[in-house]
Amino acid sequence: PLYKSLFGLSSLEKELQNAFGLSRVIVVAGDSDHSLQTKRELGRAACQVLRETVRQGDVVAVTGGTTIAQVANQLVLSASAKDVWFVPARGGLGESLDYQANTLASTMAKRTGGHYRLLHVPDFLGEEAYSSIMGEPNIREIVDVIRSSRIVVHGIGDAKVMARRRRLKETDVAAMTEEGALAEAFGYYFDQNGAVVHKMQTVGLRLEDIVNTEVVIGVAGGKSKADAIASIMRFGHNDVLITDEAAATAIVEMS
Ligand code: BG6
Repeated sequence: PLYKSLFGLSSLEKELQNAFGLSRVIVVAGDSDHSLQTKRELGRAACQVLRETVRQGDVVAVTGGTTIAQVANQLVLSASAKDVWFVPARGGLGESLDYQANTLASTMAKRTGGHYRLLHVPDFLGEEAYSSIMGEPNIREIVDVIRSSRIVVHGIGDAKVMARRRRLKETDVAAMTEEGALAEAFGYYFDQNGAVVHKMQTVGLRLEDIVNTEVVIGVAGGKSKADAIASIMRFGHNDVLITDEAAATAIVEMS
């Protein structure tokens, strides 16, 4: 019966909240590996949290991905949330257009009557290209806005899946695997203890910006992401986790 599964979900929420010291956890029913409806529910729950969190004048940084796309497609903010800026958390990460952070930031702004800024640069740059791009006043300005975000909404991926999706070089993938990369979030790769592996210079949010962001909201589900989600929670800078029953159950069982 319904009350039983509701009780089950709220006890999963409490367990995850305590295990990772989070201020809020929402667990939706189902497994988003197999159900688009569940992924939509993840998006809906994240929209609810955003509606309660976003204040006038806020800067909200978002990552790309199919999960955050479900947030973008459903976002509604309260009328008092005026002059909200949506920006991509990072530069281009080789995602297809529909799921790029730029696209999702602009969708969110259009849906809610907010503003957006886009960042049209590739994310991984050599030293020289990095300093010359960051020397461009236009780029510098948007990067400074991104780094001032009060709220970050991000997806979480399995390291190998994301490396493949981004077409990383085989040698980079091998080096990362060697270092124990298990999870990916906001363009960084993490091992099972939540330590960053394979740190790279980046345009957009740096790790120190994420550490200093007031509200970090992770949205990810599916049994296949359980290890990756746990690893990002061990990184320890999330305030909110929105996940599904399948991932939550697997995380609780392995800890
Ligand atoms: C990417 C983000 O676009 O999507 C990543 O840059 C994130 O940080 C990933 O891990 C998750 O994608 P999905 O499609 O599994 O939600």
